[in-house]
Amino acid sequence: MTRAVTGRTFAKINLGLRVKGRRPDGYHELQTVFQAIDLADTLTFRAAAGPVRVRCSGEQAPADERNLVWQAAERLWATLGRPDAPAGVSVAVRKRSPPQAGLGGGSADAAAALGALARIWRARLTEIDVSGIAADLGADVPYFLCGGTALGLGRGDEIFPLADLPPLPVVVAMPRFGIATADAFRWFDEDVDIGAAEPAPAAGSARPRCPTLWRPDADRLVNDLEACVVRRRPVIGEMIARLRESGASAAAMSGSGSAVYGLFPDSRRASRAAAQLAGRGWTALATRTLTRRESGARLFRGRTVV
Ligand code: C5P
Repeated sequence: MTRAVTGRTFAKINLGLRVKGRRPDGYHELQTVFQAIDLADTLTFRAAAGPVRVRCSGEQAPADERNLVWQAAERLWATLGRPDAPAGVSVAVRKRSPPQAGLGGGSADAAAALGALARIWRARLTEIDVSGIAADLGADVPYFLCGGTALGLGRGDEIFPLADLPPLPVVVAMPRFGIATADAFRWFDEDVDIGAAEPAPAAGSARPRCPTLWRPDADRLVNDLEACVVRRRPVIGEMIARLRESGASAAAMSGSGSAVYGLFPDSRRASRAAAQLAGRGWTALATRTLTRRESGARLFRGRTVV
């Protein structure tokens, strides 16, 4: 029996995020390209007596029912329809991916939790079950079942894998504060009269076909949330400008912020730029994009350790 599973979960950036309209469910219809980056949390799941327990170290994250890993465990247990016995698992999360950054750290951990706990609890689940739970947990979570480069439509939860990009040097930088996703979308609504989204295609009908070979050209990396966030948090605009000055071929906010990223032609320039931004008191990291195989979230390529 699998007693414990450990492994890493990788964060993402959004290579462009277009807001297409407001949906009747209160969400926004999006068109975005998710890209895995080499910034990882490490998670260890252990079968244990008693209720779900989550311990976090490193970057701050809640360890109670606000934590998406905790919610993933609860939802999975409920879906399995097992008697009301304690789910019994303890989860240790070593966090490197900061919260409220638009890097999807909490969502990546939740997606991994679904895979790891399914193993520990010997769950028989279809892909549809898992995707459904993932989408219920948060609009970003389904992407982390796929990883690599992927188009996100709908709330960002309808995922279409794209061909891997060649590894690209990336600098990710964070101000000293985070931004709640709901705030960024509310600010967007205050500033932009986007109107209602086109009704979604009927169930079963095909979404518009997307090119599987997609390139991160600078003119595609537009984030429609960026201007309204920068208006209220100008330091984010300053960080993007510094990334461009430091040689980024493109720079933008990731998701709903507060992290920003720049794409660089080579890793030496990326390291230099990260050092320059860190010198201004911001958190900055030189990293790179990952292929789907490298980010391998799908089955949570964690090792069974016991
Ligand atoms: O799904 P998640 O809990 O991550 O979303 C947090 C909030 O962000 C939502 O309650 C909603 O206000 C906003 N959001 C949105 N449109 C999206 C994704 C998120 O309006 N596509």
